[in-house]
Parts: sequence; C-alpha cells; structure tokens
Amino acid sequence: MSLVRAVRGMNDLLPAEMAKWAWVESTFAVALSRAGFAEVRTPIVESTPLFVRAVGETTDVVEKEMYSFVHHDDALTLRPEGTAGAVRAYLEHTVHAREAITRWYYNGPMFRGERPAKGRYRQFYQIGAEILGDQGPGCDAELIDLLHGVLQALRIPDVEVIVNSLGGPTTRDRYREALVQYFEPLKDKLSADSQRRLTTNALRILDSKNTGDRDLAANAPTLHEFLSPEDEAHFALLRRSLDALGTPYRVEPRLVRGLDYYTRTLFEMKASRETLGAGDTVLGGGRYDGLVAELGGPQAAAVGFAAGLERLVIASRFDPPTRVTDAYVVPLGDAARFLALTLGRELRAHGCFVEIDTRGTSLKSQLRRADSLASRFALIIGDAELAEGVVVVKDLVEHSQSKVATANVAAHVAKVCARGAQ
Ligand code: HAM
Repeated sequence: MSLVRAVRGMNDLLPAEMAKWAWVESTFAVALSRAGFAEVRTPIVESTPLFVRAVGETTDVVEKEMYSFVHHDDALTLRPEGTAGAVRAYLEHTVHAREAITRWYYNGPMFRGERPAKGRYRQFYQIGAEILGDQGPGCDAELIDLLHGVLQALRIPDVEVIVNSLGGPTTRDRYREALVQYFEPLKDKLSADSQRRLTTNALRILDSKNTGDRDLAANAPTLHEFLSPEDEAHFALLRRSLDALGTPYRVEPRLVRGLDYYTRTLFEMKASRETLGAGDTVLGGGRYDGLVAELGGPQAAAVGFAAGLERLVIASRFDPPTRVTDAYVVPLGDAARFLALTLGRELRAHGCFVEIDTRGTSLKSQLRRADSLASRFALIIGDAELAEGVVVVKDLVEHSQSKVATANVAAHVAKVCARGAQ
C-alpha cells in the first residue's frame, strides 16, 4: 500500500532538529522577556475578513496565498501572519483601556500557499512581537537594536539591517499616484501581475520578483521625495537613535514590504544568500499606526516584527550539544526491574538524565543500547546485587566498574555528572 505523505511545503520537525529549534526559540523568548514583552497565544484560525482588512485585499498574501475555507457558513482562514490576530485580541479584550503600552510576543505556525523552496514553506513558524501604544521612533530603534543583538547571539553571520520609512497614509497615496504616472508609459513592458497591480496597488510593483519589473523599478521615484515634514522628522530620529546605539543599518528607499498595514518605519534583516538562497530575509517588521483604528479600535500607534524560525535555524552557525544520557539502568530479571524504576526516579530527582531498560533483554543487548546512547554510566542490577543491596556502577567513559550501595548511587552519578537536584 502506498504511504501517505505530508502536504507539500509542510514539514515534520524531527527530534534531531529540535535541540537547535528550542535554543533559537528560547534565545528569542528570553531577549524579548527582558525587554518587557509578555507571551500571547491566539488561535491559528481566524475569520477571513480579519486578514482581508488588516493585511490588505490587494496584497499577494490575501490574493493568492491564504488557506481559506467555509465551515458551517463561517468564512475562515489559517492565519498567514500574527499581527492581525494579536491586534484583534488586543481589541476584543479591551487591553488598550487598561494599559497605556502593551508589549506582546508570540511564537507559532503560520500558513501561506507559496511555491515551496529552501526557506520558503506553506506551514512555517514565526516568532514575533508587537508594541502597541507608542508612536515615537525610540521604540522602533530599541526593537531593531534588540533584534540585531539576538541575531548575533544566534550566531548568524553577515546580518544586514535595512530600514526605510513609508510615511503616513497621505504620503503613501501621493507616492502611489507618482508610481502610476511613472509606470503607465512602461505598462507593456511590465509582467502581467504588475500590470494588474498598476490599477489595484502600484506600490506592490516595487515588491515584484520579476527581473524585468525590477529593472524598470530601478528608476522609479523613491518614497523619500514624498515624505511629509513629520514623517521625515520621525525617520531622522529613528536613524539618530540607531546611530547612538551603534546599530549598523542601511537605508533602502525602495523597501516597501508586502503587507498593507505599514506606515512610517519599515525594517528587514537579511542573512547571507549563500545559506538561505532567495529566502534570505530572516525577519521583517515595521510600524502600523493605522491598523488598530482600522479594525474598529481607538487610534493607537504600533510597531512590531516577525522572524521565520526555519530561516533562523538554517542561518544559525550554532551546533547544539547532542542529547545527554548520564545513566542507563540495566535490570536483569523481574525483581530487579522494580528497583530499576525506583532508582531511575531517584536519579532524575537528582537532576540526572536517565533511561531505564524495561525490555527484559540480555545484559549484552542492554549494554549495547547504553553504548549507542553514549551514556556515561550503566547501572547493572542482577539477583546477586539485589541480595547484597548494591548496584554495579559501570563507568563507560573511564572503563572502570565498582559496587555502590543502592542508597548512594544517585548521589554518586549526580556528583560525577555535576548535576544538582531539581
Ligand atoms: P513578513 O515579512 O510577511 O511579516 O514575515 C516575517 C518573516 O516570516 C519573514 O521575514 C520570513 O522570515 C518569514 N516568512 C514569511 N513567509 C514565509 C514562508 N512562506 N516560509 C518561511 N518563512 C516565511 C509579517 O508576517 C508581519 N506580521 C511582521 C510584523 C509584525 N510586522 C509588524 N508586526
């Protein structure tokens, strides 16, 4: 019978990979907690109109990539990103009425029906954070610097920090008009997708992956010519704050990002193309000062980011330690097995990593398993040892062996493996 396989672009994460994943996740979570972010978990499924309104009807994500379905007359979507759900929860629980500033982070699976490639999947994990209630560029700089620091801690080489300002809604409208004027005479040379974008959302042409579109976009007007004095002052203060922090960055006037909710500050961090190929953007974010009001809430400025965990794991040069086994308990016979279970529990209470062989197989096969786990000790209990009240403690690294009174075994192993009681 043929095997049932995982859905294309949706991957299993096997134990061999999980040590690195857990390390990346905890490095991020610790750094964010230290900066006052608290964890939030929102549902994976939300109502479809939430994403249409928040992310934007004419974005690639909403137009082409969402996993949407109707269930008992409800239009639902597997979340393609985390910001919309976080803002929905912020409003639904009237958090804005209780907190002047809210700092949340989240970690979980997102879904986009993109063409799978290295670093680009249909189910992928994001760790992200949102700051709601602060409109100044100070927290943008704080966030960018914090993220740059985390990528260093994750040992991701050659990180490039790119920033830009999209301005407020008026700036964006004026810029959009200028782009239409610029691209209109070149319309026939644009890809079919970009020709369509010219009428729906001209800003998206700058995001196009088509090389012909990119060449044409190279001479398009840049946003900076359209920034209002307030937008300019906001962006200048962001750059001065980053300079004061010594955070390296490059201003990229053509950075627009693919989601419609952004205003003013935009940023992305890239790792080397050699390791990640086309999916070299490990994280992206920016300001979305209009979204809370757009979703029916009060006027509340906000900024946030999300990082793709798969991309971080691929780009990180960290080799996590392999799994540790301090002791492998080898009982010979039924009576010994009861003692093995008790001894295993006691060892774990001493902070040790222990496996117990409960298969009832031969000494030879149990020792083979202890070897394959690279266990430091094999703790052998046979009838003679049971009668004597001892355990044979075989040190598989020093190649030595001694008898230790059963009551002292846990302390002995814990001392050698330098582990304290939990
Ligand atoms: P985004 O740029 O769409 O932003 O995604 C953020 C990160 O998620 C990307 O930089 C990338 O690392 C990862 N990512 C996106 N799509 C995929 C994919 N198909 N496969 C693997 N990784 C992927 C957002 O999602 C915004 N919600 C970020 C944000 C939060 N802005 C403000 N607050």
